[in-house]
Amino acid sequence: MRMSDLIQKKRDGGVLSREEIRWMIEGYTDGSIPDYQMSAMAMAIYFRGMDIEETYELTMAMLDSGDRIDLSGVQGVKADKHSTGGVGDKTSLVLCPMVAACGVHMAKLSGRGLGHTGGTLDKLESFPGFSIAVSEDAFIKQVNEVGFAIAGQTAELCPADKKLYALRDVTATVSSVPLIVSSILSKKLAAGADVIVLDVKTGSGAFMQTEEAAFDLAKALTDVGRRAGKKVIAVVTDMDEPLGNAVGNALEVKEALSALRGEYRGDLMELCLTLGSQILTQGGAAPDEDAARAMLEKAIASGAALEKFAAFVKAQGGDPAAVYDTSLLPQAPVVLEVPSTAGGYVGRIHAEDVGLVSMRLGGGRAQKDDDVDLAVGVVLHKKVGGAVAAGESLGTIHARTEEAAREAADMLRACFEIGPEKAERPPFIKGVVK
Ligand code: URA
Repeated sequence: MRMSDLIQKKRDGGVLSREEIRWMIEGYTDGSIPDYQMSAMAMAIYFRGMDIEETYELTMAMLDSGDRIDLSGVQGVKADKHSTGGVGDKTSLVLCPMVAACGVHMAKLSGRGLGHTGGTLDKLESFPGFSIAVSEDAFIKQVNEVGFAIAGQTAELCPADKKLYALRDVTATVSSVPLIVSSILSKKLAAGADVIVLDVKTGSGAFMQTEEAAFDLAKALTDVGRRAGKKVIAVVTDMDEPLGNAVGNALEVKEALSALRGEYRGDLMELCLTLGSQILTQGGAAPDEDAARAMLEKAIASGAALEKFAAFVKAQGGDPAAVYDTSLLPQAPVVLEVPSTAGGYVGRIHAEDVGLVSMRLGGGRAQKDDDVDLAVGVVLHKKVGGAVAAGESLGTIHARTEEAAREAADMLRACFEIGPEKAERPPFIKGVVK
């Protein structure tokens, strides 16, 4: 086989066979197919697409490029969750303990933040002593005993995706349905769960900027997941503004804890109830979605989810006292309010730009090896549709220095669009695809 022939075939709208796809992914992983040919193929796929059979074969070839986690030692149904990436997305920190408190195990591998989006592992390191390095045996033991674990990846899962995703990032080929489906699902299949819920973001802060594109992606994810023998549910959600109010590592942890204490009821909690009810019903722990929601609400009201979270922090070496006393989490020395210069209604909050404010403060990474400042970030006081008076605070900046705070305040003000008309807030949950 020759890679140039396969590129030509896809360029002209042909359908690649299983053998061709496997040969290409093996060759790309072992280095015999160079980046420049794979770039051309990624662009051909971007324009020509792939049918569901090709997408499935690409997913399985990427899955077979590396190791798999064996979760057979975990008792009962094990679930996993993935988000296509968002600003202020601390969902896993709330969802995992809620679901675990209702009897379904969550085994989750997470990543670090890059660019304007944060990473769950960085957020968890806000707890003094917390370790994200957990051996496979300890991971399984913890899932059985505590109900959930969230750790960094140790095995080499999907090396083909690691290479291809980095290539797509610099060749403008990220937002292609077959490439996203194979990237996400190969990693989720390698991580070994039985039930996989996917939060597919749509809007200005997401890869899929229109609802139609997001639903196409959701459908392809569930179709390919089903072919691979898994229960995959995709929930399409709005990412036109940050999720919740906090953006920044320890600040997001504090918001997640307030959700677990039952003090926060906003888009974040709605998302956790929606994703959680899908997991409980698909995992056989609840007869229907209403019953599942009631179970999840009870886990919050009774304190069971918060207790699960404290047990999880302790099991991974962190100080569980910080779950109950958030003054033990990192605190930024400079706190500055950002008064609005105009009065009216918030029409938009540019999510990606708010992520960049936090990154600029030191809360995110521009490069993979950068250090992050866990204490800094932004807490928004207004969401889309909210009324604001001139001089009223739009948000609070948490910064290392006065100068950084002032610069961030100007940046944050520019993230808001304020007008005289009250904007109709679009529904946050756009739909569920099973
Ligand atoms: N997340 C991934 O892991 N891969 C993609 O292609 C897009 C989002």
